[in-house]
Amino acid sequence: MDVFDVIRTRRSIRRFTDKPVEDEKLHTILEAVRHSPSWANFQCCRFVVVRDPSVKEKISELSYVENFFSPLGYKANPAKKGIAEAPVVIVACADPKQSGTLWDQPYYMTDVGIASQTLMLAARALGLGTVFVGVFEEEKIRSLLKVPSNIRIVGLFPLGYPAEEKTGASPRKPLSESVFYESWE
Ligand SMILES: Cc1cc2nc3c(=O)[nH]c(=O)nc-3n(C[C@H](O)[C@H](O)[C@H](O)COP(=O)(O)O)c2cc1C
Repeated sequence: MDVFDVIRTRRSIRRFTDKPVEDEKLHTILEAVRHSPSWANFQCCRFVVVRDPSVKEKISELSYVENFFSPLGYKANPAKKGIAEAPVVIVACADPKQSGTLWDQPYYMTDVGIASQTLMLAARALGLGTVFVGVFEEEKIRSLLKVPSNIRIVGLFPLGYPAEEKTGASPRKPLSESVFYESWE
């Protein structure tokens, strides 16, 4: 698959088989993530790799924020089960002080976002699946994983071999709705 095929065919995967993720593949993904660009190359991102089933189970239980999903029609985070069943959960964190803020825009979120896309594309290229999970109880996961108070936890990435087949691209707005040439109008 070339890079465009990987981009086009990546989908959020929320169900996983129990086939373990090979150490080499995990390392390849983390190594790809390491190459992601960041604000002034300060490299604010940090990752906690969790394989312990009991810890993954607890993270899964914490993948909610009170009343967040009910207006969307979900009782729980759609990724909840997948977090517990994936052989690996990567917890993406950042040290905001090691990134920039300009015009009220905190670029550590951008740094983690870029690293996250690298992670998801690298996983896809290796035949693995994952999903960006952004809804969780940050403080409870912080104490579970002993993440220092100056570090933000930005995303959870259950990682494993897909147990669901997703064919076709996700629905997206046409370019005509999102791209303007020369000026906004
Ligand atoms: C910042 C961010 C947070 C997300 N949080 C969640 C989440 O908490 N639970 C979940 O099941 N999916 C989550 N998603 C996945 C999106 O729902 C998914 O990317 C979107 O529906 C498009 O589907 P696709 O990834 O298959 O193209 C998140 C995605 C992003 C980018």
